[in-house]
Amino acid sequence: MKNILITGGAGFIGGHVVRLMVQKYPNYHIFNLDKLTYAGNLGNIADISTFSNYTFLHGDICDPNYIERLFKSFSFDSVIHLAAESHVDRSIADPLAFVKTNILGTVNLLNAFKSLWQDQWENKLFYHISTDEVYGSLGATGLFTEKTAYDPNSPYSASKASSDHLVRAYGETYGLPYVISNCSNNYGPNQFPEKLIPLCINNIQNNMALPIYGDGKYTRDWLYVVDHAEAIDRVFHHGKKGSTYNIGGHNEWQNIDLVKLICRTMDDKLGRKKGDSEQLIQFVTDRPGHDKRYAIDANKIERELDWKPSLTFEEGIERTINWYMNNGPWLNNVTSGAYLEYYKHQYQNS
Ligand code: NAD
Ligand code: TYD
Repeated sequence: MKNILITGGAGFIGGHVVRLMVQKYPNYHIFNLDKLTYAGNLGNIADISTFSNYTFLHGDICDPNYIERLFKSFSFDSVIHLAAESHVDRSIADPLAFVKTNILGTVNLLNAFKSLWQDQWENKLFYHISTDEVYGSLGATGLFTEKTAYDPNSPYSASKASSDHLVRAYGETYGLPYVISNCSNNYGPNQFPEKLIPLCINNIQNNMALPIYGDGKYTRDWLYVVDHAEAIDRVFHHGKKGSTYNIGGHNEWQNIDLVKLICRTMDDKLGRKKGDSEQLIQFVTDRPGHDKRYAIDANKIERELDWKPSLTFEEGIERTINWYMNNGPWLNNVTSGAYLEYYKHQYQNS
């Protein structure tokens, strides 16, 4: 039996990773450490919560004493680190929260892992989950490869870049065995509706404005979250130690086209007239420092680890919209209370 620590497993991507690992590997005991911030929700993983190879730990990666004690108690063989502050707009409003969780929190985990194993690194791994946003912004052409220089533009991406550097530095300096993966934008069930896709699905259902930043021509490369979880499984088991893997969907969309696609699909499902939901589109003040385009060259993971996205975007977005439309209580639960305050503040001039 191996003890694996997954951080941030009550969040969007972490929940899908926890589910995959708990179900697929009965010989692993999965410990899910999560602070349950506004973005964490145990309802995301209620279906696996009673499995005998699963334990939830409610705690904060920013508390070094707690983290040190936890590593000593459970002797984690490996860590898959997803816990983070993850929303760019919130990082613009409160950069320090991102520095604390994404940088200091990561260092606390690295220190505890290092002091637990003290150079006895055989069969140990620290897997750090990162983002393509560390590479900055692309022009109209080109793709991010693993060799692209880091050039982050938001406090979020700068904090993630910083944590990537620290993981790599612990590898170089102390020999700590690590892998890092940098993934493009995820979408799918359980994503908190501050991010573009679930925000639009929720607003269309409620006949609320769809806020499009700037001219709407910003481009993202979207990957279905379960495909990302499968890629994480591959990298965790077969990734070369000391390496980085880019993960992406070969699936670039300008925001405005993506939102129009969601509108058309939902008009059908809601029995609305064609074009009704598009009328909710509202162009609003741009995000400061807004990265123009992200796009991933996923050649390395495809070639070395035989991974490819399994769903087309049409299949993925259909599943995603269906999930949100069938999970009203989940959506109502996360959009009440603090979400309303956040929403009012973020979109006050819309
Ligand atoms: P999320 O915001 O949905 O979830 C983050 C989780 O971390 C939440 O459950 C939260 O409670 C937990 N958390 C936050 N601070 C914590 C702390 N101090 N201690 C313990 N737990 C804490 O994020 P996500 O979208 O699932 O992203 C997960 C990871 O993947 C992040 O590291 C993010 O940078 C990375 N990533 C996200 C995307 C994306 O499109 N969402 C793309 C690439 C990479
Ligand atoms: P988001 O989902 O926040 O992910 P990220 O900023 O990490 O890429 O945003 C995706 C794109 O959608 C990004 O270009 C910003 C844009 N966007 C809007 O136009 N309006 C919105 O209300 C939000 C949240 C995002």
